[in-house]
Amino acid sequence: MTLTDLETWLRETSPARLEELWAETDRVRAQNVGDEIHLRGLLEISNFCVRSCGYCGLRRERKITRYRMSWPEVLECARQAVEYGYGTVVLQAGEDYGLRREPLAEVIQRLKAETPLAVTLSLGERPEEDLLAWREAGADRYLLRFETSDRKLYERIHPLRAGQERSDRLALLRRLREMGYEIGGGVMIGLPGQTYASLANDLALFGELDLDMIGVGPWIAHPETPLGAGKAQAGQPALPAGEQAPNTEDMTYRVVALARIVCPQANLPTTTALATLNKATGRELGLARGANVVMPNLTPVKYRALYEIYPEKDCVNETAEACRLCLSGRIHEMGRTVGKGPGNRHR
Ligand code: 5AD
Ligand code: FES
Repeated sequence: MTLTDLETWLRETSPARLEELWAETDRVRAQNVGDEIHLRGLLEISNFCVRSCGYCGLRRERKITRYRMSWPEVLECARQAVEYGYGTVVLQAGEDYGLRREPLAEVIQRLKAETPLAVTLSLGERPEEDLLAWREAGADRYLLRFETSDRKLYERIHPLRAGQERSDRLALLRRLREMGYEIGGGVMIGLPGQTYASLANDLALFGELDLDMIGVGPWIAHPETPLGAGKAQAGQPALPAGEQAPNTEDMTYRVVALARIVCPQANLPTTTALATLNKATGRELGLARGANVVMPNLTPVKYRALYEIYPEKDCVNETAEACRLCLSGRIHEMGRTVGKGPGNRHR
């Protein structure tokens, strides 16, 4: 698909044409990754963060209760993933240097030695030595959304403090691939200042990077962040010109559907942010429109509410067990099956 085609689909208003898009993406999904839905147990292991992302509720300026799970807790929750039949555990956190290289490498080693789990990391822009050590310890995959392909918009929503350097997430993703990780990228949809053309570019970039995993979801305004409060950040470059893309459920389905068509073999989750906009059927519609992965939350309930990236996050009060039962029910009702094994990228 060309950039023009992508943008045309993002702007399509005819319900009949959109039905064609949903049918096409579902066909491409079935043909390339089949009917299995892979479950990745998500462990939010720390909400400390050194960054000040303008959209994120974990940004370092927020005075919230911070937690870091202990390593025995992490191992215990990962064992629960095995018990639940999940093939992957995702260790996610803010960019937290309290999660030190060596102890985490040891935990990864133990997970790989003692369980059949694939291990996915989502820990921000860590230095090369950390990423290499964790890969050597056995980590399989790394998630790092690039958030937007629009350089100016990216810089506007990622302010730097003194001493912090501007990183290049695209270069980092390519580096991660060289290290042997499966790589995951993605964007938020409807960021203030994000145009239709820019979203079309994001989609084209998924294809260029040949991403193994793609995570997309609507931007959800967090009132205690600069973006969510509608405050322009001082000293930031002007917004790009063009029509604002909406942060709606409908726009999210379009991006999910097009991402599947651009990267037919990628693993594509239906995200919690989407489920947050439509708690009743958002997940199912994502899965019917290109997605083949769900990431049930495994984080102990006492920590869940503290991992408040955005407000009203789905499943904040459900236990890991409740999410497991809820999801397997939903999947079977859709006539799909729960994937077995690690669910690596299809080739
Ligand atoms: N709304 C939606 N998604 C968000 N993320 C962070 N803050 C928000 C928000 N307010 C997403 C980012 C990040 C991922 C972990 O969560 O894309 O990469
Ligand atoms: Fe958590 Fe349905 S997935 S309650």
